[in-house]
Amino acid sequence: MALLKSTKVFVCLGNITPSLGVMSARNSSWWGGVQMGPPDPILGVTEAFKRDTNPKKMNLGVGAYRDDQGKPFVLSCVRKAEALIAAKQLDKEYLGIGGLGDFTKACAQLALGADNEVLKSGRNITVQTISGTGSLRIGANFLSRFHGGSRDVYLPKPSWGNHTPIFRDAGMQLKAYRYYDPSTCGFDFNGALEDISKIPEQSVILLHACAHNPTGVDPKPEQWKEMSDIVKKRNLLVFFDMAYQGFASGDIDRDAWAVRYFIEQGHNILLSQSFAKNMGLYGERVGGFSVVCKDNEEAKRVESQLKILIRPIYSNPPMNGARIATTILNTPDLRALWLEEVHGMANRIIKMREQLAAGLKKNGSTHNWQHVIDQIGMFCFTGLKPEQVERITKEFSVYMTKDGRISMAGVSSGNVEYLAEAIHAVSK
Ligand SMILES: Cc1ncc(COP(=O)(O)O)c(C=O)c1O
Repeated sequence: MALLKSTKVFVCLGNITPSLGVMSARNSSWWGGVQMGPPDPILGVTEAFKRDTNPKKMNLGVGAYRDDQGKPFVLSCVRKAEALIAAKQLDKEYLGIGGLGDFTKACAQLALGADNEVLKSGRNITVQTISGTGSLRIGANFLSRFHGGSRDVYLPKPSWGNHTPIFRDAGMQLKAYRYYDPSTCGFDFNGALEDISKIPEQSVILLHACAHNPTGVDPKPEQWKEMSDIVKKRNLLVFFDMAYQGFASGDIDRDAWAVRYFIEQGHNILLSQSFAKNMGLYGERVGGFSVVCKDNEEAKRVESQLKILIRPIYSNPPMNGARIATTILNTPDLRALWLEEVHGMANRIIKMREQLAAGLKKNGSTHNWQHVIDQIGMFCFTGLKPEQVERITKEFSVYMTKDGRISMAGVSSGNVEYLAEAIHAVSK
């Protein structure tokens, strides 16, 4: 027995010297080859802003609405919906894989219009997602697994910075079509048409439904019509990203016009929706992903596969935000209040655009700043060059993304003059 014991010890010690063995196990690293990655281009701006001690500092990087006092804004319809939900003492059981049924129904109705033929014939499938980002990623994964046509996704140039990694990480290949014309700070309609007409058949084309991010430049209805024709001729699969319904014009139907028009024209689209901006539910992560199918039978098959995709990623989505959004959408007086509040947010931004353009003029700027007024939605593509962005941050503590994009939602009556002064100083 004693021999056996010591043999055991010997075997154990014979392989590694105890002290060294323990030391090396503790100090060894699995991740020595992992290199430091760059900060996120948008969230990195916020980090730099937080470190700045200038009392006049402005964070125009991230796209989150602020009230005219510069404070985060919780909509009253959200507060009221929360109170109604709390009073019901609902349970916290898991939702289904596709989310809250009442939410997905209301979400699709909001985008397509309640009496849309697609909804009546049940040829859409809508699942609840982790806000717009999650929706795009589920869509990208679905394309990657099932779109036999092509792995190419064409993004407008430029597009929201997260589109590229979302599709790339899902195994798709990114291509681009012309969209923004720096010489006019407007839509490069001819360039877009020319590029789209050369996209190989069956590729995927991503379209921002309204309030294009980062440029704030949207096609006009006549231009959408021509784009729809060409997209149809090229037999492209359309993926609409609608992260700002209601936020662009203050009118939810007007902002969904392009989506509804394309469907009317026979495009069986994919659609991503987010309730981050239009209901101010940013951190609640409420969104929807829809596939418009040929018929109800196809929709059922697609639904089954979406569930199979979602289950191993997050199993099922969170319920709180979806309950809030559903309560607002399905309670007439809360819905009316919401529409008023969306309108209010959109209007405050429009007013800030006008005041910024006027302020630049007042400061003596001779540039044409009409695009500041004409662009739509949360963002303004100022046209500032990277060196000017660097200067405005360094000298004025005004933070924005390197491409010169500013979130108009972070501009208020209290700081718009300072911003005009700063932009003029670096652009004169
Ligand atoms: C164009 C676009 N798509 C999608 C999103 C997704 O946002 P979220 O995941 O917060 O809903 C955003 C947010 O900035 C956006 O600008």
